[in-house]
Amino acid sequence: MASEVFARWAARTEATLERLLPDPSVEPARLHAAMRHATLGGGKRMRPLLVYAAGTALGADETLLDAPAAAVELVHAYSLVHDDLPAMDDDDLRRGRPTVHVAFDEATAILAGDALQTLAFSALAEADAPARLRIDWVRALADASGVAGMCGGQALDIDATGRTLTLEHLQRMHALKTGALIRAAVRMGALAGGADATTLAQLDAFADALGLAFQVRDDLLDIEASSEQLGKTAGKDVAQAKSTYPALLGVGGARSKLDELAVAMRDALAPFFGDRTAALAALGELAVMRSH
Ligand code: IPE
Ligand code: IPE
Ligand code: MG
Ligand code: MG
Ligand code: MG
Repeated sequence: MASEVFARWAARTEATLERLLPDPSVEPARLHAAMRHATLGGGKRMRPLLVYAAGTALGADETLLDAPAAAVELVHAYSLVHDDLPAMDDDDLRRGRPTVHVAFDEATAILAGDALQTLAFSALAEADAPARLRIDWVRALADASGVAGMCGGQALDIDATGRTLTLEHLQRMHALKTGALIRAAVRMGALAGGADATTLAQLDAFADALGLAFQVRDDLLDIEASSEQLGKTAGKDVAQAKSTYPALLGVGGARSKLDELAVAMRDALAPFFGDRTAALAALGELAVMRSH
């Protein structure tokens, strides 16, 4: 059952994060507590699940996947802390709880994000894995987090606020701010499984469709779901005049885009035989169908 496997992978992620995060009873205790608030006890853990799904599809041991799964979640958690800051989306609710700058303070939230990001790379550097693999993981995660990935996409998001983008620009913004980390999750798992260049390229195509679908769904949920259901403030994108798929194409257009991406994901996994990629396919469906 996919859900039992996902629960096991999520529990592994939780345990690795718990082990990596600093002790909240040690100074600087407030910073440590803020990092733990941002990371533990919430979130769908979609990116770690993708690391495990891609890695095990190619025969990697779950133990080898623990470090990259936790590392990508640490970068994701940091990105959410900074995304919620007053200077960015100015949100006060995340994963059903007050955001870090509300529960603590703005300076602590900035520092917690910074420290979560560097912790991700420490986790990869010290992982029990061959040196070559650790370097490839660091490279994949660094590329996905920086100017050519999440940070670059967030900059485009801020620039695009209050403006109407072309579809091409919107797709590029989504690919960077959300797609890049999702691609890195799949890639880090695949690297652990010893994927060759052809397999990496096939999985990139799958991950790119999934990453775009994930953000299109996020933008639809922002309109259609409640804050209670989402655990974060609904209706923010219209209120802040964000550039989104529903803003540009309407709700119907965004839904059609999701249908198109679901087909692209199935096509990308088609060259793989058997049920090795069943967990990846299930995560692809989740990205399109998710209700929070
Ligand atoms: C939210 O990500 C931000 C986006 C990139 C859309 P998730 O929907 O994965 O958030 P959590 O981790 O489950 O809270
Ligand atoms: C999130 O986009 C992108 C990130 C890189 C964090 P959103 O701003 O739409 O994410 P939510 O809706 O606040 O989770
Ligand atoms: Mg944002
Ligand atoms: Mg936001
Ligand atoms: Mg959103």
